Amino acid sequence: MLSKKFRTSAVIAGVASLALGLAACAGSSDDSGDGASGDTTAAAGGGGGDAIVVGFSQVGSESGWRAANTKSIQDTLTADNGFDLKFSDAQQKQENQIQAIRSYIAQGVDYIAFSPVVESGWDGVLEEAKTAGIPVILTDRAVDSKDTSLYKTFIGSDFVKEGQRIGEYVSDTFGTEPINVVELEGTTGSAPANDRKSGFADAIKGNPNVKVIASETGNFTRAEGKTVMEGFLQAYPDIDVVYAHNDDMGLGAIEAIEAAGKVPGKDIKIVSIDGVKDGMTALSQGKINYIVECNPLLGPDLAKIIKTLNDGGTVEPRIVTQDDAFNQEQATAALPDRQY
Ligand code: AHR
Repeated sequence: MLSKKFRTSAVIAGVASLALGLAACAGSSDDSGDGASGDTTAAAGGGGGDAIVVGFSQVGSESGWRAANTKSIQDTLTADNGFDLKFSDAQQKQENQIQAIRSYIAQGVDYIAFSPVVESGWDGVLEEAKTAGIPVILTDRAVDSKDTSLYKTFIGSDFVKEGQRIGEYVSDTFGTEPINVVELEGTTGSAPANDRKSGFADAIKGNPNVKVIASETGNFTRAEGKTVMEGFLQAYPDIDVVYAHNDDMGLGAIEAIEAAGKVPGKDIKIVSIDGVKDGMTALSQGKINYIVECNPLLGPDLAKIIKTLNDGGTVEPRIVTQDDAFNQEQATAALPDRQY
C-alpha cells in the first residue's frame, strides 16, 4: 500500500524523468556538499522543481571509509542525475541525526536516507516520517526496530560475516598456537561494532588457542584507536594480535606499536576491516596482515533504489553489498585501481 507522499512521488515520476533528460542535455552540475559539519545541499540546478528531493543524514566524518561513502553519495545524487540532495553530518551523535531527520520531515522532502550512528532508539522519529508519508532508506548501518515497515530497505554490508571472516583468518593463521588478541571496537552501540564483535567471537569460539584479553572502543577513529592501543601496550606486555573493527583504528594502532619500539605486522599482527587506500597501503607494506573489505560506494545503488521507488516499483527489504578480502600480495595487486 502506497503512502500519500509516495503516491504523489509516483505520479510525478514521468515528469521527473523528462526533466532528467533535459538536465543531462544542459550538462549542468552542482555539488556544494563538503562533508563537514552542518547542512549542505546539492542545489536542484538541472533537476529544477522536478528533482527528487532527498534528505541524507550521515554518521559523521570519522574515517577514510566514511569520507569515501559521503563522496559516493554526493557524487551520485546530483542535480544532473535528477536529485536535489540535502546532506547533513551528525558528527557521530544520534541527537543530531534525529534533529536532521525531523528537519527533512518538516521540509517535506521526497525521501529520507540515513546511516544510523547507533542501532537503537529510532522508532519515534521513523514513525514521524511514516506518518508524514516520507519513505526512509537505511544505508550502511541497521536499526533494531521490530517494525520493518518503518523503512523501505536497508542496503549495506553483512557486518557479522565481516567479523567471522576476520575470526576465521586469525584462528587458522595465528591460532595454531596460543595467542593473545586485543580488540579495538567501533562506536559503542553501532551495528558494525556489535556485529563485527559477535561475528569474530563466533568464528574463534571453537579454538581455545585464541584468547581476547582486552576489548575497548576506539570510536572508529585513528586518534582514538592509537590512544586505546597505547593503553593496551602498557597494560599487556604479551599482545600477539590486534583486531581493529576498521582500518583507521588499525592505522592508529600501527602508530602506537611503532612508538613502543615494536614492529607492526611482525611483533604484533594486525587485522582490520574496510579496505580503504591507507589501510591497503599498510597491508601492502606488511604493517597490517589481513583486511576484509567493506564497500563504501553506496551512492549508485541508493540512487537506483530511490528511482525504482519513485517509479512505483518495489525493492528488496535487505540488499547486501558484496565484499572481498585481502592479504599482502592481493592488496599490492589491487592498490593501483583502488577507488577509495
Ligand atoms: O558503518 C561502516 C563503518 O563505519 C566503517 O567500517 C567504519 O570505517 C566507519 O566509520
